[in-house]
Amino acid sequence: MLTLDFTGSTVLVVGGTSGINRGIAEAFAKHGAKVAVASRNPQKVAATVAALQELGAQATGFSADVRDYDSVVAGVNQVVAEFGPIDILISGAAGNFPAMADKMSPNGFKSVVEIDLLGTYHVVRAVYPHLRRPGASIINISAPQAVVGMVGQAHVCAAKAGVDMITRTLALEWGVEGIRVNSIIPGPIDGTEGMRRLAPTPEIHDACRKSVPLKRMGVPEDIANACLFLSSPLASYIHGVILPVDGGWVLGGYAAVASAMEPLLRVMPARDKN
Ligand code: NAP
Ligand code: COA
Repeated sequence: MLTLDFTGSTVLVVGGTSGINRGIAEAFAKHGAKVAVASRNPQKVAATVAALQELGAQATGFSADVRDYDSVVAGVNQVVAEFGPIDILISGAAGNFPAMADKMSPNGFKSVVEIDLLGTYHVVRAVYPHLRRPGASIINISAPQAVVGMVGQAHVCAAKAGVDMITRTLALEWGVEGIRVNSIIPGPIDGTEGMRRLAPTPEIHDACRKSVPLKRMGVPEDIANACLFLSSPLASYIHGVILPVDGGWVLGGYAAVASAMEPLLRVMPARDKN
């Protein structure tokens, strides 16, 4: 039987205090790693650290907004002081809300781009000096919006496409040092904040489930298992890829969801005051 053992490895999961990323943090904790998590809300950080310790892991965390580079640097330094060099970085902090491009405010667009895209750069930039090389693995959590245009998602489409280009560029720049860099594109993952926002009614949720070629929504464990594999020696020659983990959804599932979601979006009132 295949077992993945991360004993002795340090993993940092940014945005690791809820949803998919918390599932990733828990999976690494169950497989022996020392795990650090980070997000804005200190209560969410403390609760997640306690839960990871309950799983038997050494765990720590820090509170930072990924839009603020200095606070990301300070948090990363704290993790390194406690746990030593970082072997695995999962960068997954993100924000999203559905709104048509002409109805969101410029600040709404900017907020999402600053969290998802600028935040990803801040995180990889702050962690880079502390990665254990050779052998380190970076995984950026992307989204289907990076590869298909979606109604009501101009901000996220722009930001996540940028995230994947950061992945490809860093693969070229940092591969020589033995640092592997990849993206994972989760499909629709049930019970998450992302799905609560993007499939807000039972009808849209059902349309989404049916639109997955495997005929089920994903669960956080699906993404966590892919992260375990991609960070392990089994994936030592996988570098610079953008990996969908989505039951095949990116092959065309979006069209079905769009036809359910679009009427709702078109009548949604504008937030843009201008
Ligand atoms: P979630 O539970 O809302 O997780 C987002 C995490 O990021 C939270 O820990 C949040 O904690 C943190 N965060 C948000 N803004 C931040 C900021 N400015 N600075 C630092 N941390 C911040 O969402 P999710 O639905 O599980 O999504 C997780 C990831 O998967 C995202 O990258 C998302 O784009 C991607 N994804 C999700 C789906 C899906 O079906 N849900 C599909 C495709 C891709 P705080 O509030 O404490 O900051
Ligand atoms: N529809 C339209 N515009 C919205 C909006 C919505 N549902 N929610 C926020 N905005 C706009 C605000 O009006 C504001 O613009 P304005 O100043 O021109 O009015 C701008 O976005 C920033 O909002 P604010 O609440 O100040 O941002 P924030 O930095 O505190 O939060 C968000 C960022 C908006 C992305 C927030 O939803 C968030 O923190 N999300 C994290 C969780 C999440 O999205 N999880 C799913 C991940 S896939």
